[in-house]
Amino acid sequence: MLSKKLDQVTPSYTIEISTKVNELKNEGMDIINLSIGEPDFFTPKQAQNKGIEAIYNNRTKYDAAAGLKELRKAIQDKLREENNVHYDLDEIVVSSGAKHSITNTLIALLDPGDEVIIPKPFWVSYSEMIKMTSGIPVLVETDKNNDFKITAEELENAISTKTKLLLINNPSNPTGAIYTKDELKSIIKVCLDNNVYILADEIYEKICYADNFTSIASLSKEAKEITITINGLSKSAAMTGWRIGYSASSKKIAKAISTIQGHLVSHPSTISQWTAYGALTLCGDEMKKMVGIYKERRDKAVRLLSKIDNISFINPQGAFYIFIDISAFKNKFNYRDSYSVEFCKRFLENYNVAIVPGIAFGIDDYVRIVYCADINDVLEGIRRLEEFIQSL
Ligand SMILES: Cc1ncc(COP(=O)(O)O)c(C=O)c1O
Repeated sequence: MLSKKLDQVTPSYTIEISTKVNELKNEGMDIINLSIGEPDFFTPKQAQNKGIEAIYNNRTKYDAAAGLKELRKAIQDKLREENNVHYDLDEIVVSSGAKHSITNTLIALLDPGDEVIIPKPFWVSYSEMIKMTSGIPVLVETDKNNDFKITAEELENAISTKTKLLLINNPSNPTGAIYTKDELKSIIKVCLDNNVYILADEIYEKICYADNFTSIASLSKEAKEITITINGLSKSAAMTGWRIGYSASSKKIAKAISTIQGHLVSHPSTISQWTAYGALTLCGDEMKKMVGIYKERRDKAVRLLSKIDNISFINPQGAFYIFIDISAFKNKFNYRDSYSVEFCKRFLENYNVAIVPGIAFGIDDYVRIVYCADINDVLEGIRRLEEFIQSL
């Protein structure tokens, strides 16, 4: 009955964990949830007010498929001022979240059988989105000693005659690693030499602790031509539920994305778009404040984790995740399919802390914790992790 495409698509691990957490909470258990990549802050007031104003001023009619002109202009200004790259307004399309921008882009670019290279570990939805849009995800092993960042050589080895796109997430979910300018330049060169487009998911770009983020499209005119930049407000402005993301790309690709979006959903909610406009034009200081708090939490979490024997982790430079190597305890577990799933299951059931198994990101020797939660919960979760590990 269902389409064959869906045979290959698996449900999201993170959503399964949330469901389990809710079940346990309903049974009256007190669970520390370090599994969800959602800011614990609320959307800044001035942004909220723009959304409320939009309702009262009846800015609630159909509008342009590519998104409100005012919002695209604010995005254009942001890309120029913060990322040093200029886009015309008809090169920017606002969608219902970064997820939606990525899906629109995949629909626009992929023919059946086209390959998309994804460095491992990768954000859970990429591979499934690619399968649902008739592409083939090609998962590429990367080196832990390079913070799991793909190198030009690894990329070159993975390219085939079917390769259409490289999907790169910078800063990374789940590692928090950030590519240097030189690393990006060598990746761009391989892509240009092999006619491969770059889908650059830069959703965590503002959450960066050492001011060392470079937007791929800013590196050269040629880089900009082959790059589709994805970004959004969910993480940077604590706007997850409003569902606003955007893409910036060449005119031809942007036009295709806009056409696809026009037929599928017309455009994202105008109220949410006005809220995003408020966030981008009025809430820069509040966003910076949130990043400052994430940094403090990162430092505290990393300090505590460093004291635990027999684990190691990638030191996060951005985003709000820590990817922890738990391979040292593998022989202490009986498991059928996945070690990290069994590890997380036992941790949740016995210590009431929810974290995400590394297998969700393609690497079974790891688990991911978040620090976009209350710092007391983060630290208590890490203390319990230590207790759990010592009990093994
Ligand atoms: C790497 C990455 N890209 C995209 C998204 C989706 O963002 P949005 O809420 O804007 O759809 C997430 C959310 O977790 C993410 O981690």
